[in-house]
Amino acid sequence: MTRYLITGAAGMLGQDLQHALAGRAVTALGRADLDIADAEAVDAAVSGHDVVINSAAYTKVDDAETHEDDAYAVNATGPKLLAEAAVRHGAKLLTVSTDYVFDGHGTSPYPEDAPTDPINAYGRSKAAGEAFVREIAPDSSYVVRTAWIYGAHGPNFAATMLRLAASHDTVSVVTDQVGQPTWTGDLAARIVELVDGDAPAGTYHGTNAGQGSWFDFTRAIYTEVGLDPERVLPTDSTAFVRPAPRPAYSVLGHDGWSRAGLAPMRDWREALHAAVQAGALQA
Ligand SMILES: NC(=O)c1ccc[n+]([C@@H]2O[C@H](COP(=O)([O-])OP(=O)(O)OC[C@H]3O[C@@H](n4cnc5c(N)ncnc54)[C@H](OP(=O)(O)O)[C@@H]3O)[C@@H](O)[C@H]2O)c1
Repeated sequence: MTRYLITGAAGMLGQDLQHALAGRAVTALGRADLDIADAEAVDAAVSGHDVVINSAAYTKVDDAETHEDDAYAVNATGPKLLAEAAVRHGAKLLTVSTDYVFDGHGTSPYPEDAPTDPINAYGRSKAAGEAFVREIAPDSSYVVRTAWIYGAHGPNFAATMLRLAASHDTVSVVTDQVGQPTWTGDLAARIVELVDGDAPAGTYHGTNAGQGSWFDFTRAIYTEVGLDPERVLPTDSTAFVRPAPRPAYSVLGHDGWSRAGLAPMRDWREALHAAVQAGALQA
């Protein structure tokens, strides 16, 4: 029986990964059980597993601007140590990365092999983590980039918009950042399909298909949960200046899935409908 290790198991994706692997031989370790930046602890944790799925990360994008060393320890050194341990113990490694490895100046979907050029500290730390994994475990690792994720477990944009609906008549949301809202339920299921199959090692884009702005996403959320979408008003990024710059165009290409014998993940609007039906988002 395949033995799976999930790191960052208490996070938003980590919890959906546990659900997607229910009934299997799984060790699920949250941050309190395993610090992925601790080499000895990582080696001990990886031992005895066939598949390691790394969903641990430093995800505070704005804080990373002033704590880049902390972000690097989790997002770059962590995957490096996991890759070294996975190779030592003969395990497959899948690490989750981000659209923020790209600069966002594109106008057509970024292919899996497009050059990375992050514009913030979080993106730099994640790009470094990807590079370590590819270098150390070129034949036995997957890098799965995701973006704009939301789910039942944990703070995320969709949950914030629904919380705001309870106390505000209207919300203003930017139209000038475009990406692919992605349900962690779909992503977790896709990650399990990938590690269970025999797809070639390499980089895959784990985002729901299609594209939309944060404004489009928020209107779609409101519609799905039965709120009036006209309560969502358009604005642009000049109204929301934050410490870390965000890529304006975060659309990832999905051609790589054919190498794995898999279709791209479904359209984000269809996934959002399923997420609401599943109770992952509630008004
Ligand atoms: N959220 C997004 O929209 C988004 C977009 C693109 C890519 N991603 C990537 O998707 C993956 C999953 O993200 P998520 O939204 O599920 O993140 P999350 O909810 O923040 O989960 C990450 C988990 O990692 C834990 N962690 C932090 N430092 C750790 C360490 N040194 N050792 C072990 N665990 C540690 C965190 O614990 P604490 O909470 O205690 O710190 C948290 O439970 C990450 O790789 C992230 O970079 C996310």
